[in-house]
Amino acid sequence: MNLILRDAVEADLSAIIEIYNATVPTRMVTAELEPTTVEARLPWFRDHSPDEYPFWVAESDGRVIGWLNFKKFLPRGAYRGTAEISVYVHENFRRHGVGQRLLEEAIARAPSLGITALVGLIFGHNEPSLKLFDRLGFERWGFFPAVAQLDGVKRDLIVVGLHCPAPDSHPESFRGPVSAETTSHADAPQARCYKDCLNLMQTLMHYRQEPIHSALQKIRDKYSMLHLDVLLLIYHFSKICSGSILEIGAFVGGATIAAAFGVRDSGRQKKLIAIEPGGGVKHRRLGTRNILRDLERNLARQRVSKMVTLIKGRSFAPETISAVHQALGSEEIGLLILDADAGKRRDIECYRDKLADGCWMVIDDYSGADSNVKSAPSRADVDALVAAGALEPLGFYGWSTWVGRWRGGSS
Ligand SMILES: C[S@@+](CC[C@H](N)C(=O)[O-])C[C@H]1O[C@@H](n2cnc3c(N)ncnc32)[C@H](O)[C@@H]1O
Repeated sequence: MNLILRDAVEADLSAIIEIYNATVPTRMVTAELEPTTVEARLPWFRDHSPDEYPFWVAESDGRVIGWLNFKKFLPRGAYRGTAEISVYVHENFRRHGVGQRLLEEAIARAPSLGITALVGLIFGHNEPSLKLFDRLGFERWGFFPAVAQLDGVKRDLIVVGLHCPAPDSHPESFRGPVSAETTSHADAPQARCYKDCLNLMQTLMHYRQEPIHSALQKIRDKYSMLHLDVLLLIYHFSKICSGSILEIGAFVGGATIAAAFGVRDSGRQKKLIAIEPGGGVKHRRLGTRNILRDLERNLARQRVSKMVTLIKGRSFAPETISAVHQALGSEEIGLLILDADAGKRRDIECYRDKLADGCWMVIDDYSGADSNVKSAPSRADVDALVAAGALEPLGFYGWSTWVGRWRGGSS
């Protein structure tokens, strides 16, 4: 079966509820006694976010055939690392490995979500689910006898659980070049970084099989100086990030369009702000005499103009900074794309008060030929911020683009 796992969007909710409601009369899976509705479940659905308590669907041939969600196990702070998961598969697609794929993904992604233990609540008479969780290494952690009453029959509840590998428990080979001076206390975030890097690589591989790959290939060929993998990551971060997106150095719109597609496919409202001063550029493939005219034309051609707040000016000019603040309002930046000149640190300082903790950062010109006047200072800026602990690196992608997260706190 051609199975795709992806973040759920609101448009999936009717399929999600349909799968859920089909299990209600079986009295095997859910303790809900009556079917529910899309409207009733909307707040529950909106309580999820891709980087904290995600909600995924399994899709086959464009149809949602299963889903998995994470939720808080208990509200008190000490349980932050423990999440409850639920898995549902359409009745026509059971015993095809769909539930197993979803669960395997949950186990693999848990550490990068800050989750250290997964629990599932399963009726004692739901043998297929108990077997599935057993197979994936879950243990029986709790037994609540006769706590549920289903059509007059008292039923047991079993709590199954799995400790997810602590970030510092990976074998040395996986952890990469941890320096000799690094203390074991400092190892955990570093190991988390390696895990996150691998997740990003997997994400890129996943997108290679998706229609967005060829859509962005065309955007790159027509409008972008960035590598296709970088456009895919910009698309991905725009899709999953919380908060707004700020791009500095839009040029004729390649990365802007990739970000707009990500926002569109997230099914959520997000602000996408692009800064570009304009001018002309000599370039073999993308030369232009009027950057702003071409940028506006390209955004219109791709039908994303309305999604983009275009600020015409230089990133560090006081009027640009105040226009960005005004456009953001009270929102924080969840993705920052820096592809302007060599002043990477300058641009980060201009907007650091609006960067969310964990803000995704895509910074171009990290490395390049010695003749590239942008790359040496850009690299020095990024390295200094990494050394100061303000940036967390997640690797280098396509040609010379640095990817990571903001860990500098607000000023
Ligand atoms: C390499 S291009 C960006 C390429 C684009 N990201 C893409 O997908 O092809 C750099 C752009 O940054 C703009 N730029 C240069 N300095 C800037 C600044 N201080 N603020 C905003 N944009 C700037 C330039 O006008 C140019 O259009």
